Amino acid sequence: MEAHAINPWVAFAYLVAGICFILALRGLSSPATSRQGNRYGMIGMTIAVVTTLLTHEIASLPEILGAIAIGGGVGFVIARRIKMTAMPQLVAAFHSLVGLAAVLVGIAAYYNPAAFGILEPGGLDIFKGSRIEMGLGVAIGAITFSGSVIAFAKLNGNMSGSPILLPGRHVINLSALVAIVALVGLFHLNTPGLFWAIVLLSFAIGFLLIIPIGGADMPVVVSMLNSYSGWAAAAMGFTLHNTAMIVTGALVGSSGAILSYIMCKAMNRSFISVIAGGFGAETGPSGGGEAREQRPWKRGSAEDAAFLMKEAETVIIIPGYGMAVAQAQHVLREMGDQLKAHGVNVKYAIHPVAGRMPGHMNVLLAEANVPYDEVFELEDINGEFAQADVAFIIGANDVVNPAAKTDKSSPIYGMPVFDVDKAKTIFFIKRSMGGQGYAGVDNDVFYMDQTMMLLADAKKMVEDINKALAD
Ligand code: TAP
Repeated sequence: MEAHAINPWVAFAYLVAGICFILALRGLSSPATSRQGNRYGMIGMTIAVVTTLLTHEIASLPEILGAIAIGGGVGFVIARRIKMTAMPQLVAAFHSLVGLAAVLVGIAAYYNPAAFGILEPGGLDIFKGSRIEMGLGVAIGAITFSGSVIAFAKLNGNMSGSPILLPGRHVINLSALVAIVALVGLFHLNTPGLFWAIVLLSFAIGFLLIIPIGGADMPVVVSMLNSYSGWAAAAMGFTLHNTAMIVTGALVGSSGAILSYIMCKAMNRSFISVIAGGFGAETGPSGGGEAREQRPWKRGSAEDAAFLMKEAETVIIIPGYGMAVAQAQHVLREMGDQLKAHGVNVKYAIHPVAGRMPGHMNVLLAEANVPYDEVFELEDINGEFAQADVAFIIGANDVVNPAAKTDKSSPIYGMPVFDVDKAKTIFFIKRSMGGQGYAGVDNDVFYMDQTMMLLADAKKMVEDINKALAD
């Protein structure tokens, strides 16, 4: 395969693919344009794959096409079957494959550089200036692989979500990272036998980096691993002199890093403290369990909710993880439609970390055809609760917990939350008073004078409200 001859048509095709990927990212930034963004991504990837297949000397086309068919088929079946609530672990699993692919390509290129067109003419096992990229590519790929496997196991419940804190872990991790950088430097100088040392040490460091991170921070970690997988692909792109891989890898790497930053900001966590790990040791989702204070609270019914909301001027709906679990988005949209028919101003308030993955609520509401102009981000709607007649909380908990504003000892302290306590009436749907949110902490909103608890499965409760509204 002659990767070095720069065929202008290949360069052009990769450029078009790169533009499609940029348009894909742009489209995916809003629910209204996300389908179009997805299409751009698929077109870009098709162009990149077809160009590579047509312009490189392929050892065995049937084998490659067979592998694409098997991989595509498995991906298709998984995508159709996966539940929205299991999406974070699926993403983690897919990242592990990207990391593994970078390692495998690195191994293949290391043992057979001539086949990849990266050997200096005259042999002597001298790569064309691509040893640093190769070393970095396999190192980041191996870290991504083992880190993602641990993230998958934690999110999927195969291992405890609690942080596993080894003594001296920061020193161990830092030393291992320094050692990897030193090994990559020596590998570049053609010191023999270092390739496998880099691979094995990186597998270990991926494992060590992720085990101390608690379940509550895991989605940030998944996004960070997404970023790593992009940098691994970009490094392999430099090794193989493949522009499409460099561009795609850089886009994935930088967008993953930006997303991690946005998520940390929304949870009021510092990026460094997330990466260093340890959050959730006492209070994570698997924590809690201490005796709860008995305080008076009011129980409401579907009829109460229907009656009061029909009379309201403005109802702000706050969906959360429980709506996703109950798959209540369609009945919720029907409720919104009924209320609008009664002249009520209906708005949906979306917290950046509501649910269990970025954009979780937006996706579900879009699936239920909730109009985009009724959906508002936290900072755009938070000032409106003081004028709202009803705050309708459906399966959300942490994102409406005022302890985030007032209780310095709370694990969610500092996270921006909806000011639902300012609304005249609050309806709070959850299944029981005992069930807690992700952070595992009690919520003062349950006990407020203006709160009525609607204790039931979210879908069932909204169906009942819909019936009451229709009567
Ligand atoms: P949570 O605080 O997790 O609360 C979910 C609520 O839904 C619980 O009160 C639960 O109570 C209720 N629920 C569960 N199943 C239900 C059902 N079938 N019907 C009705 N209610 C049900 O949700 P949230 O407010 O969306 O907050 C998200 C949390 O996840 C935050 O702490 C956030 O930091 C964390 N997190 C999110 C992300 C992203 S990117 N979204 C990433 C990392 C962490 P019951 O059990 O009593 O029903």
